[in-house]
Amino acid sequence: MTLFSLQLWQIISKTTCTVTMFRSVLKYILSFVTLFGLIFLLRNITIGQNFRMSALYEFQNRIQSSNQSRSRLTLHDNHTLYPHWGQPLSPEEELEEGDLLDSIAWPQPPPGSAPPNLSRTSDPAHSLFTIVPSKNEQRWYVGDQLEVQVHLHDFEGRPKRYGGDFLLARLHSPKCKAGVAGQVLDHKNGLYSARFPLLWEGSAQVAVTMVHSSEAVAVLRRLREKRPDRVYFFSFFRRGNHSEKMLCNVCLPQDEGPLCNFTDPHSGDQWFCYKPKMLSCDARYSHSMGGYAKNLITEKEALLFKRGKNVKVAIHASTTDTINVLPARNGSSSQKPDPVKLATSGYYYQDSWRPLGGVTMRQFDTPSAITQCLTNKLVYMYGDSTLRQWFEFLLTVLPDMKKLNLENPKKSGPFMAVDSTRNILLEYRFHGPPIRIQPVMVSELRYIANELDGLTGGPNTVVVLGIWAHFSTFPVEVYMHRLRHIRKAVARLLDRARETVVVIRTANPQEPGRAGNVYNSDWLMLQQDAVLRSMFKGLDVMLVDAWQMCLAHRLPHNLHPPRAIVKDMVDMMLSYVCRNGTRD
Ligand SMILES: *[C@@H]1O[C@H](CO)[C@@H](O)[C@H](O)[C@H]1NC(C)=O
Ligand SMILES: *[C@@H]1O[C@H](CO)[C@@H](O)[C@H](O)[C@H]1NC(C)=O
Ligand SMILES: *[C@@H]1O[C@H](CO)[C@@H](O)[C@H](O)[C@H]1NC(C)=O
Ligand SMILES: *[C@@H]1O[C@H](CO)[C@@H](O)[C@H](O)[C@H]1NC(C)=O
Ligand SMILES: *[C@@H]1O[C@H](CO)[C@@H](O)[C@H](O)[C@H]1NC(C)=O
Ligand SMILES: *[C@@H]1O[C@H](CO)[C@@H](O)[C@H](O)[C@H]1NC(C)=O
Ligand SMILES: *[C@@H]1O[C@H](CO)[C@@H](O)[C@H](O)[C@H]1NC(C)=O
Repeated sequence: MTLFSLQLWQIISKTTCTVTMFRSVLKYILSFVTLFGLIFLLRNITIGQNFRMSALYEFQNRIQSSNQSRSRLTLHDNHTLYPHWGQPLSPEEELEEGDLLDSIAWPQPPPGSAPPNLSRTSDPAHSLFTIVPSKNEQRWYVGDQLEVQVHLHDFEGRPKRYGGDFLLARLHSPKCKAGVAGQVLDHKNGLYSARFPLLWEGSAQVAVTMVHSSEAVAVLRRLREKRPDRVYFFSFFRRGNHSEKMLCNVCLPQDEGPLCNFTDPHSGDQWFCYKPKMLSCDARYSHSMGGYAKNLITEKEALLFKRGKNVKVAIHASTTDTINVLPARNGSSSQKPDPVKLATSGYYYQDSWRPLGGVTMRQFDTPSAITQCLTNKLVYMYGDSTLRQWFEFLLTVLPDMKKLNLENPKKSGPFMAVDSTRNILLEYRFHGPPIRIQPVMVSELRYIANELDGLTGGPNTVVVLGIWAHFSTFPVEVYMHRLRHIRKAVARLLDRARETVVVIRTANPQEPGRAGNVYNSDWLMLQQDAVLRSMFKGLDVMLVDAWQMCLAHRLPHNLHPPRAIVKDMVDMMLSYVCRNGTRD
């Protein structure tokens, strides 16, 4: 063992990320060594009022310049670094976690291709897609499936020989204001297929976008596993007129000083801050976003994240990108698109969302239609700012909904609005840390699972959840842990009050600036989204497929989707809430 690893061993015992249960100690030991290697390097990120930003930069530069630490950090690039967060996993949970990780496994570039030589990485401008000819003499009918082959090439025009690029595909018609998300298959040899259900008559145009090259995905994957400090947080501690500002996160290196453990005793969600010098841990009174760590990647790697060049850039058609779709053939009515087989949850037509299967979509175009649906309802919304959009939308369209002035921060809330005539309550509360937020009181930091345990539930209770965007800088296991405990709380709620309505909003693609950065990448979000969907499968909850809605819609992607799409999402929720007819 090298001196370096020995030093790592010495600090293992001092670190908060130490796993509480050692079911399979040996299996994880090597990975721990790597993790603690990181923490060893991190320990000069210091704390308190003398938080030394420069130390952080120094550390990052060292990672980049030191061959030794680089190779160590990329040595065990798998998911075992954070096997157990918070409370230990039961055997079933461990099994589920393994299955979930398998289900989001993503092809990696062959060994030896890192650090990447830009000229050998995927270049959308040199790549092409081709529409696979129809079996019916170049005729396509509604109900058929369209297939497109995508050939990726590098910056010197050579075909790529391995997979792992992140592509998005969409079939659309500007004339019909129609669109549907395609399903992309990676053949792992530089070829990809995109498949689309044909759902409308007339012209249909294919759009394929490379969000990230496989080489960029490899960088994102490494950062996700090894750099949970990409976004950092602060808390103020205060007693009398003395206050101290301390660094906080899901996980902190311990040898920079003692820690305060704010891990939630019920849900086991981890949270730590460095202990203030003069104050006790109880003196914590606020939480806020700290900032984004800089210089996370090398100059060479940064070339993989260039807007307009290899981040969310269109791939062009080799010949045509458009087909004409004929009306459904006779006898093909039985060929109604199967949403499960197509993995398509719905499509846009004339700018309105048409779900395939599940709930029948209704339009709630007037305040009275909405209030009629929500009369006597208690609507609890828990989540991030993408769910706050739903609350804000309802508030703007319902003139009789009065928002209570609770003098809470304008963005974070929590918010409450009532229509006392119709007996409607709307509540929005942001989810517990990690949350990148302006300063909020710690008394407002609540975990969704705990909030759900505090609800009585029943036919008049509607619970809406939307939690995804703030987890992208952590190993996906952190998100799994959070969702597992939310799911347990949802199951308990449905057990005690079967008729409670539960709606879950999925993640969505973002604008190129965010989608392409190392903190929020669409790839990170997509992986989380797959976990979210699996986690809630089989439960009596409705998913609002924000991902496919935003992909299918003609408006550009945005972390906070435009109002038109928010309306469709809210309509989906209301259609589900009032699926058994309206009541007064
Ligand atoms: C933090 O607190 C939680 C819950 O009280 C506990 O399970 C965990 O072991 C503690 N972790 C550390 C490093 O003290
Ligand atoms: C931490 O900082 C001290 C000086 O502040 C320095 O002597 C020491 O080498 C640093 N350790 C690491 C691991 O960077
Ligand atoms: C990294 O390794 C290369 C050759 O393997 C060497 O030329 C270079 O100086 C090393 N860099 C550092 C910072 O050690
Ligand atoms: C993760 O890496 C460790 C160390 O190389 C290895 O023993 C383990 O099998 C790997 N696990 C997976 C799931 O790849
Ligand atoms: C990258 O590859 C090209 C040819 O494919 C070669 O000319 C160039 O020297 C390589 N650059 C580096 C830094 O290896
Ligand atoms: C703190 O408050 C006390 C009394 O309220 C005052 O005497 C003292 O000067 C204050 N200290 C500072 C550093 O402001
Ligand atoms: C479809 O069926 C109708 C009557 O059911 C018939 O008039 C029409 O010609 C058929 N069209 C085709 C394309 O077979």
